[in-house]
Amino acid sequence: MKLRPETALTFDDVLLVPRRSSIRSRRAVNTRTQFSRRIALAVPIISSNMDTVTEAAMAMAMARLGGLGVIHRFMTTERQAVEVERVKRAEGFLVEYPRSVVLDATVQQARAVMAQHNIGGLLVCDQEGQIVGLVTTRDLLFEPNPARPVAEVMTPRDHLVTLEADASMEIARNTLHRHRVEKLPVFESDGSLRGLVTAQDIIKIDQWPVATKDERGRLRVAAAVGVRPSDEERAAACVQAGADALVVDIAHGHSDAALDMVRLLKARFPRVEVVGGNVATTEGVRDMVEAGADAVKVGVGAGSICITRIITGFGVPQLTAIDECAQAGHDLGVPIIADGGIRNAGDITKAIAVGASTVMLGSMLAGTDESPGAAVIRNGRRYKIVRGMASLSANISRQEAELQREVDPEDWERVVPEGVEAIVPARGPVQEVIYQLVGGLRSGLSYAGAATIAELWANAEFIRVTSAGRVESAAHDVTM
Ligand code: XMP
Repeated sequence: MKLRPETALTFDDVLLVPRRSSIRSRRAVNTRTQFSRRIALAVPIISSNMDTVTEAAMAMAMARLGGLGVIHRFMTTERQAVEVERVKRAEGFLVEYPRSVVLDATVQQARAVMAQHNIGGLLVCDQEGQIVGLVTTRDLLFEPNPARPVAEVMTPRDHLVTLEADASMEIARNTLHRHRVEKLPVFESDGSLRGLVTAQDIIKIDQWPVATKDERGRLRVAAAVGVRPSDEERAAACVQAGADALVVDIAHGHSDAALDMVRLLKARFPRVEVVGGNVATTEGVRDMVEAGADAVKVGVGAGSICITRIITGFGVPQLTAIDECAQAGHDLGVPIIADGGIRNAGDITKAIAVGASTVMLGSMLAGTDESPGAAVIRNGRRYKIVRGMASLSANISRQEAELQREVDPEDWERVVPEGVEAIVPARGPVQEVIYQLVGGLRSGLSYAGAATIAELWANAEFIRVTSAGRVESAAHDVTM
């Protein structure tokens, strides 16, 4: 038998040893980190590319809080691109392709477009596509005649308050205030439209000071893709919609299929970050980086809803997997994403202390308001569903989406699930969950005497605990 000499560990097998600290407050630490080679985050938390965790609402919330969301791939290519686009359009100093209506559109039609896209204003174009005015919610609010053309209620172009193409945010803010307007079209010197600045967007910029944004002020978002030939087009549609990163999402990432896909995506979309995964070994990281990966996702069978280790016998306990992979990642200058098995803030601190740059969370975020799906009530309590992407129900949903018909229950037996479906307590807004987790991580940094994540890597010292030590670690001998 070929047996590795070391004992593999996971989060509960160890604790971090307190170190002398000069940190006087949790606010004095900085949780800034790298998601990938070129994308930095203020908060090292990523929402998982699972269909019960991340679509546009979660991705927007995560980016606003300083983390990042990975939109799952278990939907049509078109829909995934729309989810990506929703995040990219959610905010930005300048809306580059503002929605518009034609001059002879009716008030009713304009109201419908605004409601569909949840926006408060539309540019009005003539038949040649020239901007001739702006119509906002206020113009339409009390208009009694829904058939009236927008041309009659809009503000015409020569009455619009506009902004110079190179105006700063400060100038935009002052102009909005001085003229008591909420939208400022921005025109190039040749009269063509550059975009629209809105008061709402400026308010959001102030509201989310550590938001993860691209160079144009838009929220960042990642999109998951598989390894089939059709996934190249899925990736292209997501990139076209503005995805900042593509995450090659396959359970056994240390495979030719995954490595080829990373290589292909890197060649075709050199400006987009490509994340490879999942792997659990040094060789896995090396091969991923050699194929071009800008970050590597680590975790095989650690997830709360995973049964891969039971069904296949394969996996590496997560703390050891992160340790081994992070050593390779640090040597190669590529960040490691610790994916799966995180149950509390302490696990996040341990995962990062052992070398990860970020953590990916599934079931911890599945119960929040921003995850897809409605809450269910059981015994008077609210829960939300979380399911493994290799669970029976996820497999059947996928087949049904591909076949465009229901799968015969007799065929269910053909599926060999490597995940389960479960419920988690509904937890309210994701902001509150992230606040608690980041608070715990900040406290953890101060126990390590570390002002930054790099210092945590340098200072961290782990100690093994026995089962008695684990009992002592949790609340004990009291009635909760
Ligand atoms: P947590 O523990 O945060 O884990 O809920 C989320 C991660 O679990 C992985 N995942 C799966 N692994 N079978 C597996 O073996 C599955 O069906 C499955 N679904 C998700 C994935 O890496 C996710 O981010």
